[in-house]
Amino acid sequence: MRVLSGIQPTGNLHLGNYLGAIRQWVAMQDAMGADDQCLFFLADLHALTVAIDPADLAASTIEMAATLLAAGIDPARAILFNQSRVSAHAELCWILQGTARMGWLNRMTQWKDKAGKNREGASVGLFTYPVLQAADVLAYQATHVPVGEDQKQHLELARDIATKFNTDFAVELFPLPEPLVSAEAPRIMSLRDGTAKMSKSDPSDMSRINLIDDDDLIVQKIRKAKTDPEPLPATMAELEARAEARNLVTIYAALSGEAPAEVLARFAGQGFGAFKPALAELAVATLGPIRDRLTRLLDDRAEVGRQLAEGAARAHALAAPTLRAAKQAVGLQIG
Ligand code: TYM
Repeated sequence: MRVLSGIQPTGNLHLGNYLGAIRQWVAMQDAMGADDQCLFFLADLHALTVAIDPADLAASTIEMAATLLAAGIDPARAILFNQSRVSAHAELCWILQGTARMGWLNRMTQWKDKAGKNREGASVGLFTYPVLQAADVLAYQATHVPVGEDQKQHLELARDIATKFNTDFAVELFPLPEPLVSAEAPRIMSLRDGTAKMSKSDPSDMSRINLIDDDDLIVQKIRKAKTDPEPLPATMAELEARAEARNLVTIYAALSGEAPAEVLARFAGQGFGAFKPALAELAVATLGPIRDRLTRLLDDRAEVGRQLAEGAARAHALAAPTLRAAKQAVGLQIG
């Protein structure tokens, strides 16, 4: 098994990233056998597809790496690096741009969402973003890619690109990567709008819980989370039309490791006046230790940078033979 996943180093890591992705990364790393490999990276090249402040990007890359370390990623067991330090990502991306089709990219919902009505004004990188994502995965011949639900379509595209490349050039170079969307990795929605996913790009900080938030802020954000006046029902089906209420129950269940039905069995009939403090207490108990580790790691940012450089050297060595084979397959002079 070769497991790989990435995250954009923009803004803060939030509860959606943690419950939807990072927790699975840590679990997979911990379950790895001797011949398996785990690679996790900060997708700093992907971050360039929207407007960025260079100083913010540099700081966020270190902060996000520190957050992953605080959440349990262990450089002794997983390779942790930032994408731009390993040139194979950009090089393979260019080669795969010859394979990916405009029509495939046009169908990507993230492209449609992010470009919105202003497609003409969007960067070219935003459009070809999923090709770079395919290169990330294929450069390492990754077999398993743990992601949240929203990234599934990009992984399907990576499979299409791999299949077409293998066919067009009559090689068996790229294994088809399997997206792993774990049942315990729910889609976490905004605390202000139960129909929008919790996101670092939401202008309202009250919409998300960041892993760097202190205990008081976590409590305050949960207290102010949008809900409705009804008490909690006995089944998840009855929460179908109550997006905000359902989201809070989902978060509670993900944090406590229970099924949402078990949570409802305990809280049915109670209002949010009782549920929110219980949720806040659970969130503080789970996230507090991660934040404390993160604060300590951020005292020595240079050390985090050194760890990323070491990870990049290992990643480079793993990607090099595949990049070489891809160049050879398409007829580039490599010798
Ligand atoms: P990104 O940075 O948006 O998110 C990182 C991971 O967090 C998951 N996630 C969520 N899960 C549940 N609820 C939410 N509200 C939520 N928000 C985010 C995402 O599904 C993702 O798994 N394109 C990717 C980064 C990437 C990548 C890759 C991933 C670049 N190359 C190669 C896998 C393989 C992205 O923007 O994720």
